Amino acid sequence: MHFLDVDDLRIKDLLNIIDRAFYFKKNRKRHEKFLKDMSFGIIFEKPSTRTRISFDLAIHESGGHPIILNKNEIHLGKKESIKDTAKVLSRYLDGIIARVYSHRDLEELAKYSDVPVINALSDLSHPCQILADLMTIKEFKKSFKVKIAYLGDGNNVCNSLILGCAMVGADLYVATPKGYEPNASSILKAKQILEESSGTLVLTNNPLEAAEDADVIYTDVWMSMGDNKDKEEILKIFPPYQVNSKLLEKAKDDVMVMHCLPANRGMEITDDVMDGKNSVIYDQAENRLHAQKALLYHIYKKVKSE
Ligand code: CP
Ligand code: NVA
Repeated sequence: MHFLDVDDLRIKDLLNIIDRAFYFKKNRKRHEKFLKDMSFGIIFEKPSTRTRISFDLAIHESGGHPIILNKNEIHLGKKESIKDTAKVLSRYLDGIIARVYSHRDLEELAKYSDVPVINALSDLSHPCQILADLMTIKEFKKSFKVKIAYLGDGNNVCNSLILGCAMVGADLYVATPKGYEPNASSILKAKQILEESSGTLVLTNNPLEAAEDADVIYTDVWMSMGDNKDKEEILKIFPPYQVNSKLLEKAKDDVMVMHCLPANRGMEITDDVMDGKNSVIYDQAENRLHAQKALLYHIYKKVKSE
């Protein structure tokens, strides 16, 4: 299977992956080497701290061999077609993990790859992030039946969050400025999932409506890697969506504050909130490792033995 967005998983598999991630968290370095003798290419067209290190470690600690491939070190789509790269890498590797500018390139890679392709972030989605985010919500709130407020830009993280929240039945409020709403196809897919699940999705331009009585407040940068938005306009229209102590007063006392990182401190989130008692951002970052191990286990161990 390929993992290009959260809804490539069945709901029951998503829930199992989250449960298994807790097992990996508890048994770090003591668990089975389920990737023994397997090799993985991890391609980065854009910079990364968390995704790069957590995938490298997840593979290494599970007995596999990770090979980090930065964009200037391989021929991807420039000197060599994506199809040829996909075909050749499939002869060497057991899996390809890729962070790309264009989601279409990822789809092309997946189309021609004979081994699983995992999305390590594209302009459209960031599903591996959402696995860790859902794990973190379960860790601190013990349930998905919570109100989650996402504030800011309707970007890749937001698009995947919409799908993940719909699948686990959470109540998600997405507050963005007009014109910066999440991707229409992600909204449509989430609405279809919600027909069968108990969650809700509310799209609003009002940050206070989203934050009101929220159990979780989540934000991300106002300008993503590769964005060509007008910075002046962003600085004019996004400040009401900043996650700061005043906004937190609207939420529940024990609201947990999330950010996928890297953060622009002082922009989408203030220092005091990031470093405050409600913040779980470093737990969230750590959980990338455990959640990705559980994803790899699902793809390489569980599915193969089914
Ligand atoms: N959250 C996240 O994907 O971080 P990196 O860009 O550092 O990988
Ligand atoms: N939306 C951000 C997420 C970084 C992990 C970006 O794409 O730059």
